[in-house]
Amino acid sequence: MSAPIDPTSTPAWSELTALRDSLRPDLRTWFAEDAGRVERMSLPLVDLHVDLSKNLVTDDVLAALVRLAEQTGVAERFAEMLAGVHLNTSEDRAVLHTALRRPAGASPALEVDGQQIDSDVQAVLEKLSTFADRVRSGEWQGVTGKKVTHVVNIGIGGSDLGPVMVYEALKPLADAGIEARFVSNIDPTDIAQKTSGLDPETTLFIVASKTFTTLETLTNARLARDWLWDGLTSAGIIDGTDAAKTDAVAHHFVAVSTALDKVEAFGIDPTNAFGFWDWVGGRYSVDSAIGLSLAIVFGPSAFRELLAGFHAVDEHVASTPVAQNVPFLMGLLNVWYSNFLGAQSHAVLPYAQQLNRFPAYLQQLTMESNGKSVRWDGTPVTTDTGEVFWGEPGTNGQHAFYQLIHQGTRLIPADFIAFVNPAYPLEDGGRDVHGLFLANFLAQTKALAFGKTAEEVEAEGTTGALVAARTFPGNRPTTSIFAASLTPSVLGQLIALYEHITFTQGTVWGINSFDQWGVELGKQLALQIAPAIEGDAEALEAQDASTRALLEYYSAHRSS
Ligand code: F6P
Repeated sequence: MSAPIDPTSTPAWSELTALRDSLRPDLRTWFAEDAGRVERMSLPLVDLHVDLSKNLVTDDVLAALVRLAEQTGVAERFAEMLAGVHLNTSEDRAVLHTALRRPAGASPALEVDGQQIDSDVQAVLEKLSTFADRVRSGEWQGVTGKKVTHVVNIGIGGSDLGPVMVYEALKPLADAGIEARFVSNIDPTDIAQKTSGLDPETTLFIVASKTFTTLETLTNARLARDWLWDGLTSAGIIDGTDAAKTDAVAHHFVAVSTALDKVEAFGIDPTNAFGFWDWVGGRYSVDSAIGLSLAIVFGPSAFRELLAGFHAVDEHVASTPVAQNVPFLMGLLNVWYSNFLGAQSHAVLPYAQQLNRFPAYLQQLTMESNGKSVRWDGTPVTTDTGEVFWGEPGTNGQHAFYQLIHQGTRLIPADFIAFVNPAYPLEDGGRDVHGLFLANFLAQTKALAFGKTAEEVEAEGTTGALVAARTFPGNRPTTSIFAASLTPSVLGQLIALYEHITFTQGTVWGINSFDQWGVELGKQLALQIAPAIEGDAEALEAQDASTRALLEYYSAHRSS
C-alpha cells in the first residue's frame, strides 16, 4: 500500500486556501448574476437528481476541489478498492462491499486472494433467496407447523442499523404478512419490549453478527432462546428435554455471520446459517446476508433491486470524471466545509418519514469510518477529519433544531433528501398533504440559502431590536437530493452515494475508513468492570476513584 498523500502539501490545497481567503459567500448575487449556475451544478446520479447549486462554492472552488481529488488519487484508490487491494491496512483485508452487488455473471469475474468472489456472493444470495421464499410462503414452519409472522433480527451496529433503516424505509412494500423487529441494545428493556406480544410458535429469530462474538448480540440471542423455550414449555408444546429444545432452536433460529463455526457452537444448525466474508465491513454489510430480514419481509426480488441500485452508483463512480462524479463531489464539498470553512458537523435531513433511521445509519457509516486521527500508514493525520453527522426527518426537525441552522453562529452544511411521490397519497380537505410537505423542503433550502435581509424585515413593518432578531443571514449551504419515489433501487443508490462520499473524504485525509479500533477500549473495560458490578471487591478496588464512586452509588441504590 502506497503512503498516503498529505492533502495539505498539494497545489490544490494551496489554491483552495487562497480561494477560501478571498471567498465572499453571496448566494443571492451568485444566483442573480449567473443564470446557468443551477443547471451547471445539478447532476444526475442514476435516478437521483442532485442539486449542488446552493453550496458555498464558485466554479473556481469546484475546479480546485476536483484537482484535490486528482492530486490525492481518489479515483485510483476507488479502482483499487473495486479490484480487492487490501485498503484495510490495519487488518490486512480487502474492502469489497461493492462486490456484494455485482450482478450475476459480471465479467471479468472477480478473484481476490484466491477466492472466486462473484460465485461465492451469488451462492449466498441464492441460499438467502430460497430461504426467504420458504419463510414467505409458509413452507418454512415453526415447531408446531405454523407460518412465521414475525422475524426478530438480533444484532448491533452494522448488523442492526442497516437492516432497521431499510425496513423502515421500505415498510409500505412489505407484502408477505411478516413483520420485522430489531433487537440491538444489551439494555434488557430492548429485548423485553421487542418480544412483547409475540407468539413463540410464529417467531423466527435471526442472529446477525459478523464476528459472532459481540457481547450484546450473544447475550440477546441467549435471552431470546430462553424466551422461546420458556414460551413453548409453558404452552405445553415442548417438554424441556434437550432434544425438544434443540428442535425448537432449529425451527426458530437462523444466523448470519462470517464465523459459521461459532454459529454452530451456539446451537444453530449451520444449514440455517448464511455466510459473508471478512472483506465486508459491518457498516457496509446491509447488502450482504445481513439483509436477510429484508429479503424475508420484502421478498428476494426487492432485495435484488436494492442491490442493483447500489451497483448502478458503483458504476457511476467508477466511470465518471471527478467533475461530474456526484459521490466524489459531495465528499469534496464536505472536505471544503470541514477543512476550509470550519464546519464541525453535517446535517442530513430527509423529507421522508420512511427515512427516519437514515441519519442514525449514516452516523455509523461516516463516523466509524472517518473518526480517525492516524492515517493508513500509522502517521498522524494532517488536517481535521470526521465531522459529526446528525439529523432527523423534516418537518419534525424544523420544530426542534432548525433555529440553530438558520440563525446560529455555526456553519452547518445540510443535505435535504426528498421524493416526488409519497407512499401514502393522503388529502386534507382536498389538499395533497405530501405536496404541502414538499413545500416545506423547498422553503427550508430557500430560506437557508437566501435568508431575509433587514430591509425585507422592515418592509413588513417590523422596527427596532426585533429587526435583527427576524433577519436571516442566508448563505447556509445545502444540497438537495430529489428522486421520483423511494423504491428499493433508489434506496440502494442513496446508501451507496453516502458510502462513496465517506470513501472520498477518507481518501483525501489519508484515512483507512474500514477499521474501527476506537470501539475496542470501551468493550475491554466493560468486561473488566462487570465483576465489580456483580460485587467483586477486588475488581471494585482496581477502578479509578470516579468509577469506584459510581459503582458504590450503584450498590447503594440497587433495588434487588
Ligand atoms: O463495535 C463496533 C462493531 O464492531 C461494528 O463495527 C459492527 O458493525 C458491530 O460492532 C457489530 O459487530 P458484529 O456484527 O461482529 O456483531
